Amino acid sequence: MRIGILGSGLMGGKLGTIFARAGHEVVFSYSRSEKKLEQLAGEAGVSARAGTPREAVADADVLLLAVHWNRVDDVLRQAGDVSGKIIVTCSLPMSDDDTELVVAHRSSGAEELAKKVRGASVVSAFGSVPSEVLFAVFNARDSREPPHLLYCGDDDEAKETVADLIRDAGFEPTDVGPLRSARYIEPFTMLVARLAYEGDGGPAVAYRFEWREEEEA
Ligand SMILES: NC(=O)c1ccc[n+]([C@@H]2O[C@H](COP(=O)([O-])OP(=O)(O)OC[C@H]3O[C@@H](n4cnc5c(N)ncnc54)[C@H](OP(=O)(O)O)[C@@H]3O)[C@@H](O)[C@H]2O)c1
Repeated sequence: MRIGILGSGLMGGKLGTIFARAGHEVVFSYSRSEKKLEQLAGEAGVSARAGTPREAVADADVLLLAVHWNRVDDVLRQAGDVSGKIIVTCSLPMSDDDTELVVAHRSSGAEELAKKVRGASVVSAFGSVPSEVLFAVFNARDSREPPHLLYCGDDDEAKETVADLIRDAGFEPTDVGPLRSARYIEPFTMLVARLAYEGDGGPAVAYRFEWREEEEA
């Protein structure tokens, strides 16, 4: 797959590296430092390169949107026409000081994004785990019980593509339905962040749900 990374920070840098190491073609874009993009590409391997957001979009099948909420309009403006693309968003609609969700309950960041990029298929994924756990999960990708990763979207074909990427990253995809389910994923992520950054176990946390046979008392 050809994947354009829009926002090459903690999430975009690591996920882009993981996708490249899983065999995908990756273009890292949108950083204040071109040198950083070049370095990320160099470390990710031969199938990765650095580019502008427009170059990241040009041949991409999938775009990963990984910027702060207050940079979404800017990166989309720089990206140009994204119609026909699958946009995976891990971007949370956080306030400028990163303390609270500024979209919630009746909408979600993913749904608001979808309104901005009509013609593209938005899938919400990867945003519900901290960046600190990504390499640990990828490095353990052959384990029998990988962590789950919640994802949702309205386009089934786009979701299948993203489910493959989730598997490539070492997680087991957990489909929670239409894009409006991001209204529940995004606040859940705040809980995961609390565990990661305020809990005793350190920031490299992921999650796994368990399904049991229902039993009588
Ligand atoms: N970090 C996490 O663990 C985590 C977990 C779940 C969801 N998320 C969400 O994922 C999204 C990305 O988070 P992140 O932690 O990866 O953010 P980040 O590390 O700050 O990365 C954001 C990227 O945007 C770039 N950028 C910012 N301002 C720019 C500008 N004016 N011009 C060009 N590039 C600019 C940054 O450039 P530089 O390279 O120059 O810094 C960086 O590459 C956010 O919406 C966040 O809420 C994050």
